[in-house]
Amino acid sequence: MPNDPITHPESRRSFVRKGAAIAGGAAAIWNPPQALAAFGGAPAVTFPADKLKALTRWPRYGAAEKKALHDLIDENTFYNANAAFENDWKQYTKSPYVKAHMNGSSALTSMYFALDLPPGSEIMVPSYTFFATCLAMRFFGYVPIFVDIDPATACFDLDDAKRKLTPRTKAVVAMHSWGLPCEMDKIAGWCKEKGLILLEDSAHAHGASMQGRATGTWGVMGIYSFQASKVMPTVEGGMGMYQTREYFERAAAFGHYEDPVKFAKDSPVRAYEGTGFGQKYRMHPFAAAVARIQLSGLDQRNAVVSSNIRKFNDRVLHLPGLSEPRCRPDQKRVYYNANMLFVDAKKAGFDRNQLMRALKAEGVQVSMWDYPEQHKLKIYAEAKWWHHAPVIPANMPGDAQVNGTHIMLPLIHGEAPDLLDQYANAFEKVWARRTEVSKL
Ligand SMILES: Cc1ncc(COP(=O)(O)O)c(C=O)c1O
Repeated sequence: MPNDPITHPESRRSFVRKGAAIAGGAAAIWNPPQALAAFGGAPAVTFPADKLKALTRWPRYGAAEKKALHDLIDENTFYNANAAFENDWKQYTKSPYVKAHMNGSSALTSMYFALDLPPGSEIMVPSYTFFATCLAMRFFGYVPIFVDIDPATACFDLDDAKRKLTPRTKAVVAMHSWGLPCEMDKIAGWCKEKGLILLEDSAHAHGASMQGRATGTWGVMGIYSFQASKVMPTVEGGMGMYQTREYFERAAAFGHYEDPVKFAKDSPVRAYEGTGFGQKYRMHPFAAAVARIQLSGLDQRNAVVSSNIRKFNDRVLHLPGLSEPRCRPDQKRVYYNANMLFVDAKKAGFDRNQLMRALKAEGVQVSMWDYPEQHKLKIYAEAKWWHHAPVIPANMPGDAQVNGTHIMLPLIHGEAPDLLDQYANAFEKVWARRTEVSKL
């Protein structure tokens, strides 16, 4: 019956114990949950849809971005914006060398070019990533070794990497999934021990750091993407991160034919002025102008998102079978795209699909998105594209677990205690009716 208070909610005691109201930590008041909206009850979320749309809108551009674009057009000095942004980003990340590229994929291609390893060298990459992390190496005769992710973090699984090390392995790429840094201290330690070159794909992690060191500066080279969905979006754009002058000059000259002359007289790359090494990867100056404004608000935007996630997650994570990716105290994570949570169906008493049906009926904007596992895609199975055929792993339990058990909630970019409260109420209501949810 709609709006009929339940008399024996499951796990009721634990909800009373943990269910402190989000706003201001007010004393917990237990309201018996109403009938599930999926069975005709009133939805727990009544927050206005237009307000939610405004709070989740992405990218978030405003008057400052518009002014920067107008100013650039009026000044007619387009390319100065690129150097200015590189300078800002270098200072922000404390990286000795950076280079703006037209997107993250071209930054990756330049990075692999700069590596300058013999064809046939193997490079460890997560299979749980965007195609360019794995595929851009192909142009230089390198071959990927697909490494699993740790299901507790969705990031690089060092134990799996250790199992897959081959005599031809020369480098390792850590990708900071959804803004959570990989355990870079452990990965860097292992790379040092084995003489491997450490690289990073930080396309998801603008503003993230570990032990105070920005992601993208742990490896000798790394990249960022500023594509529209990213934590710091310029619609399209990318950045290369370099810890040595040699790598910087090679990577920059790959797609920037006017850069070599700027290098010191003793640079072996200087003589390639006018051609570089064959590509043209310059970032669009409009993107660079937008990037400078976006960077000035990056920490603030990340802080709002993180604070909202803490308020929500801290309230609901006591629910049986619900967890968040593990983040160490010495890691500063950011959130790319969503608040990703994991659902253990056995502990919860219902599966992910049933949970999503119940939450959606309650008015929660919940979704899921399976990262396409690279090792399953056609191009890696065809030897003709590669120096030698990549090994296709029979299974990737970490990938499968994360893809099979996650749910995603929208990032909230503003103060919205009512919304967070209603979302948390919806979760608690659904968990209190676990037996019914398991029938959905
Ligand atoms: C992990 C990862 N690496 C690299 C890239 C490539 O960035 P871009 O889209 O700017 O080429 C992306 C973009 O989606 C990504 O998610």
